Amino acid sequence: MLNAAQVREAAEYILGKISLKPEVGLIMGSGLGILGDYIEDAVVIPYEDIPHFPASTVEGHAGELMIGTLSGRPVVLMRGRFHMYEGYGPELTAFPVRVMKAIGASKLIVTNAAGGVNTGYSPGDLMLISDHINFQGRNPLVGPNDNELGVRFPDMSQPYSKRLRELAANVAREQGFSLREGVYLAVLGPSYETPAEIRMMRVLGADAVGMSTVAEVIAANHSGMEVLGISCISNMASGILDQPLSHGEVMETTERVKTRFLGLVTGLIPSV
Ligand code: 6GU
Repeated sequence: MLNAAQVREAAEYILGKISLKPEVGLIMGSGLGILGDYIEDAVVIPYEDIPHFPASTVEGHAGELMIGTLSGRPVVLMRGRFHMYEGYGPELTAFPVRVMKAIGASKLIVTNAAGGVNTGYSPGDLMLISDHINFQGRNPLVGPNDNELGVRFPDMSQPYSKRLRELAANVAREQGFSLREGVYLAVLGPSYETPAEIRMMRVLGADAVGMSTVAEVIAANHSGMEVLGISCISNMASGILDQPLSHGEVMETTERVKTRFLGLVTGLIPSV
């Protein structure tokens, strides 16, 4: 794990460039980085300028941190995240979360695109993550524990805040739609699952499957942050429909529900 001194260095670099203290951290999944366009008075900092930040190979746009005001609140947004399938270790994937905490964010909203494992789901559904299963085989807290960052054996009995889930359900209802709520299972990727793997995951209690989020959420819980996670069900997982999976479908569905998804997140910010 990267240590508290490295987190502090990164945080000090960022704090030297901003005048407001972000309260909410945002990590947006594929195709949703456009949320940054709604941030007012944004300070944009390329990842490569921040000490100890991993060099970004993120698809789409160069990775950058945006700090500014969204729905009237100071926020910090990661435009582009680090996936473990890109070759980053879990400690690097989770590092930006620690830095968000160090510059002031006590809440974290994470979103992702995920495959529907629950056969009652449909592409385009939004799912509040109630819990997760870590099938990535890695944990960002492995190695010496830095007590300044959190305890050695962090509690994970409510990794996704019940309070924030209730709040999100209310905001969605006010906006005229409903949310699913279920268990997110994270794999390493980058290949999609086989039908047999998906049947196994369903037996184990998973509702959705994806390749991100879990390392970040473990670090956030370790840091004492309150977490809200939302998955966009972009496609049905392997073996459910008689068709192959493609990243194209993931992007098309995200594009289709983008307005609703971004409306939910911006609607939530004032009350998280
Ligand atoms: Cl079906 N599997 C995984 N691992 N990630 C996904 C997905 C499926 N659909 C979107 N992301």
